[in-house]
Amino acid sequence: MKMKRIILAFAVATMAMGMQSCGQTRPENNDGHNLWLGDITAPVNAPLKEKLSKYDSQLGDEGFRIRKNDKGEAVIYANTDAGLMYGTYHLKRLGDCGDLSKLDKEIVEVPAFRYRILNHWDNPNLTVERGYAGKSLWKWEELPGKIRPEYEEYARANASIGINGTVLNNVNADPCMLTREYLEKVKVLADIFRPYNLKVYLSLNFAAPKHLAGLKTSDPLDKDVIKWWNDKVAEIYSIIPDFGGFLVKANSEGQSGPQDYGRTHADGANMIADALKPYGGIVMWRAFVYAAESPDRANQAVEEFMPLDGQFRDNVIIQIKNGPIDFQPREPFSPLFGQLEHTNVMAEMQITQEYLGHSNHMVYLHPMWKECLDSDTYQKGEGSTVAAITLGKVHGNTKYSAIAGVTNIGDSINWCGHHMAQANWYAFGRMAWNPDLSSEQIVDEWIKQTFTADKKFVEPVAKMLLASREACVKYEMPLGLHHCFSGAGHYGPGPWDRSSRPDWEPAYYHKAAADGIGFNRTTTGSNNVSQYNEPLKSIYNNVETCPDKLILWFHHLPWDYKMKSGRTLWNELCYTFQEGIDEARGFIGTWESVEKYVDPYRYGQVHEKLIRQAKDAIWWRDALMLYFQQYSKMDIPADCTQPQHTLDELRRFRLRISNYETPALDKLPEYTLE
Ligand code: GCU
Repeated sequence: MKMKRIILAFAVATMAMGMQSCGQTRPENNDGHNLWLGDITAPVNAPLKEKLSKYDSQLGDEGFRIRKNDKGEAVIYANTDAGLMYGTYHLKRLGDCGDLSKLDKEIVEVPAFRYRILNHWDNPNLTVERGYAGKSLWKWEELPGKIRPEYEEYARANASIGINGTVLNNVNADPCMLTREYLEKVKVLADIFRPYNLKVYLSLNFAAPKHLAGLKTSDPLDKDVIKWWNDKVAEIYSIIPDFGGFLVKANSEGQSGPQDYGRTHADGANMIADALKPYGGIVMWRAFVYAAESPDRANQAVEEFMPLDGQFRDNVIIQIKNGPIDFQPREPFSPLFGQLEHTNVMAEMQITQEYLGHSNHMVYLHPMWKECLDSDTYQKGEGSTVAAITLGKVHGNTKYSAIAGVTNIGDSINWCGHHMAQANWYAFGRMAWNPDLSSEQIVDEWIKQTFTADKKFVEPVAKMLLASREACVKYEMPLGLHHCFSGAGHYGPGPWDRSSRPDWEPAYYHKAAADGIGFNRTTTGSNNVSQYNEPLKSIYNNVETCPDKLILWFHHLPWDYKMKSGRTLWNELCYTFQEGIDEARGFIGTWESVEKYVDPYRYGQVHEKLIRQAKDAIWWRDALMLYFQQYSKMDIPADCTQPQHTLDELRRFRLRISNYETPALDKLPEYTLE
């Protein structure tokens, strides 16, 4: 095989030595700006790289191979510059993690999903919907003139974990994003991102023809509307030749869409897809649709999209949230994954912690996403996991395999608001590259690259992070009890909250009453179980076989229902909360035990937040159990942490935050951790 040598300079051994220094002495202050990349502004060391002159189809456009040459030096081979770049970051990661011995065997890496995309919910006015890391990274008012170094750092960080696309603006899209003025700004970012194999995409507002061109309609079958979109897409590609395509939230939560004109989601998506097709662009059409009148919001995506199966163009991908409701700390997988057969589907995960304590709580999310991807839908028998379906392996539609993550990135100095939340950005990228990687492996890599490879630090911190998602589930939604959030920013508990829509009220979901608690989604209730393929339908339908962790998701049960543990449901709830509280408290001790390995700045910030997290865990328990006690008339067991506030006090407490911020630690209810 003839190869062209591109760059020559590098010693793997030096790289490995340089990266693992922290040891016993306490490191200098670090504000978290450099993420897992070490000095993020420095170019990555240049290893031996060879671009293949003959296309190697095993590697495709982004894969690489690393093999040692006769001199024992590692050489990266790839068909493309992107592949060489990903190989370089891989080699750096092996060095940082002390894994260079893996080079003794040839390494071949090819990304699993073709489209590995971040979704920013950033608005042109710099707010970030459900963003807890400051303002938007994109300073629209400064662009196109002023370029911040963070833009390139962002691209480099994404490249290092294999993310190859980014939707720059909120799904609740401002039409202005498609104006020439904004496209010129977007172009600047696209130019910066291009060398990092990172494509830009935009969320569109379906009513843009009306808003921007003054057309009387945005009906997707109207010829002037079609022409407007065709012209707009042509204009975009004339400015950004490798533009990726559009993300669309239509007829959902007040957004305009084809149904405003009596058309279907397929009519709307296809019109946009046809405009993009000649340029190779894609449409990610969201399945997050629900109407206030429905008796069960969890049923609606299947009800809306199944009749349209097979009607979408091949460059349309239906983007489905991992669960059927809305990014709760635990949901069963969305049944739509296991229903559509003739339509491309992709999963949307939420990296930003809308329902998991914002950037105040440490919650490592990879186990939650993996739980979804590994779930078997049984659509074509055993093994039809969500991963296999979205990879296109079950229905043979691998061309448009994709995965999206709603980012947690803002202009905060440490990028994600909580130092530990960077792990979730990192994990999303690694998972999109390889969904088979374990939570353990990813967190181990992240810790070693971000803090130190000293195992006295890595082991306890990894253990704590790995336990954190389950702890959050226990203190926010034990046993499948869901959406008991306060309407104020979805931060704390608010089981009593009222709203303008019934399906935005916690009572719609918890259904607490004198006869018990939980949502009956069985065949005697909303029949949501029937959207799952067998054997899941029967497993979920039967209270004896339904897993405890989802029991109140699928069943309404009396307070004294006897659980598998032998406890009453009421006591099981109390003790599960207690475990969550104890685990959150335990995280503080773990962190204190590794203090000497962390710089004071990051140590202090994380410590303060862990304390708040543990207090919030008690707050959650107090609010929910005191509220439910009105119906159950049962006591919180004496060996549980006793409530520190009365129900009245908690109900009077009003969090005043918007959908764009995390509450300040000292503005939350007082709690002691003794
Ligand atoms: C949630 C979230 C909204 C968001 C919506 C969506 O409902 O609270 O802020 O717009 O999801 O995913 O579109």
